[in-house]
Amino acid sequence: MSRMLGRLSFLTIPLAVWLVVLFFCQGAVYADETPEQRDHRMAWWRDARFGMFIHFGLYALPARHEWVRNYERIPNEAYEKYFERFDPDLYQPRQWAKAAKAAGMKYVVLTTKHHEGFCLFDSKYTDYKSTNTPYGRDLVREFVEACRAEGLRVGFYYSLLDWHHPDYTIDKIHPLRPNCEEKQYTQEMFDRLNAGRDMVKYRQYMKDQVRELLTNYGKIDVLWLDYSFPEKFGKNRNDWDSEGLVKLVRSLQPDILLNNRLDLPQSADFDTPEQKTAAELRKQYEGKQLDWETCQTFSGSWGYHRDEKTWKSVPELLTLLITSVANGGNLLLNVGPTGRGEFDYRAKDRLQGLADWMHFNRRSIYGCTRAPDGFSAPTDTLLTYHPKSNRLYMHLLKYPKDGKLVFGPADRLAYAQFLHDASEIRWNEGDHNTRVLRLPVDKPPVTIPVIEIFLK
Ligand code: GLC
Repeated sequence: MSRMLGRLSFLTIPLAVWLVVLFFCQGAVYADETPEQRDHRMAWWRDARFGMFIHFGLYALPARHEWVRNYERIPNEAYEKYFERFDPDLYQPRQWAKAAKAAGMKYVVLTTKHHEGFCLFDSKYTDYKSTNTPYGRDLVREFVEACRAEGLRVGFYYSLLDWHHPDYTIDKIHPLRPNCEEKQYTQEMFDRLNAGRDMVKYRQYMKDQVRELLTNYGKIDVLWLDYSFPEKFGKNRNDWDSEGLVKLVRSLQPDILLNNRLDLPQSADFDTPEQKTAAELRKQYEGKQLDWETCQTFSGSWGYHRDEKTWKSVPELLTLLITSVANGGNLLLNVGPTGRGEFDYRAKDRLQGLADWMHFNRRSIYGCTRAPDGFSAPTDTLLTYHPKSNRLYMHLLKYPKDGKLVFGPADRLAYAQFLHDASEIRWNEGDHNTRVLRLPVDKPPVTIPVIEIFLK
């Protein structure tokens, strides 16, 4: 028996050591960063809580989803007509930045290149770029300048996928994938299609472009690399050389924040749960000390989609924002500008609704996070907490019919007021160390009213 155990440990101990080494080496390019240094690097982002995503590219012209090339299996030649007609004459990034700022967003992340491969910047390494379209300008440069002028942090989205590049191998979601059911895919099919394509060259192309983006536009605050699908006939960290990419990024912009879609978990600064409901986010992140940012569309598409009708309402969007903050995360809310380069009327309407709410209630968002232990949110409310001022914010998703709200523990309550007008909220003694807040019977004219509670 002891001989067997001895033999087992003879095998398992080196294996365990090796696994630990592997865990720390893999992509842990900031292995020497202390927790304090990391907190310092993440501070502005944790404080901001709310950002704007912008998906803009040739797909704004077909206006039926940024994945249109995949959905309709469109080859390069047939997609060329959009390149030839790309002319966003109403593009005024300063208007975008102003709208983001008014809605209370603190940073903006723009698609410098999406899966279609088209570059909004003047890259040396391709002709497939905005400067060669009728528009003829580097949109990224103007975007960066506009954000800075409005005091917003700047983020770049860059697609790892590239359905236009001749060396990018055809995989299960490429527009030129085999023309049959996925179940019937074979390796030979892909080998045949990929003869002559060379990912070594594509990897170099990506690195060259990432280098351009991170050297030619000044300080970039966020890099959003999208995405890996480490499945059969998919792409994983080896296809991108994720480790090499991370090293490059960190060396060019040491303070940058990097998302988690490189199939290299240890290299990520934050999680990116996409299009999750408020309930799903709560389930996933409640009580966890993690950095995360949920990205969400107004409707069902990231790129401009003319006919898509499932637009979220302002209260739904606010619920996503507040749920994120209440569970220690951020919200990155997407706009898909039209082919003319403007936000469409539905996006403007939602942004205005958010701006109206944020005008009064931003104090319950910025610098806020989950409530400390011991406070539980009454039904249909969400709690956020501002550690620096020691104030708690109670968001009333549904307004209590009788105007009464139970708060506890009673001995922590120093003062309470509505946030939108600083009007005092008085209370009665409740049972079991609680207070019963006495709200006006009529709901104030605020989409989601917030009570600001000064704690003892
Ligand atoms: C997905 C989609 C993409 C979108 C992104 C945003 O990865 O491929 O179209 O840009 O999510 O999170």
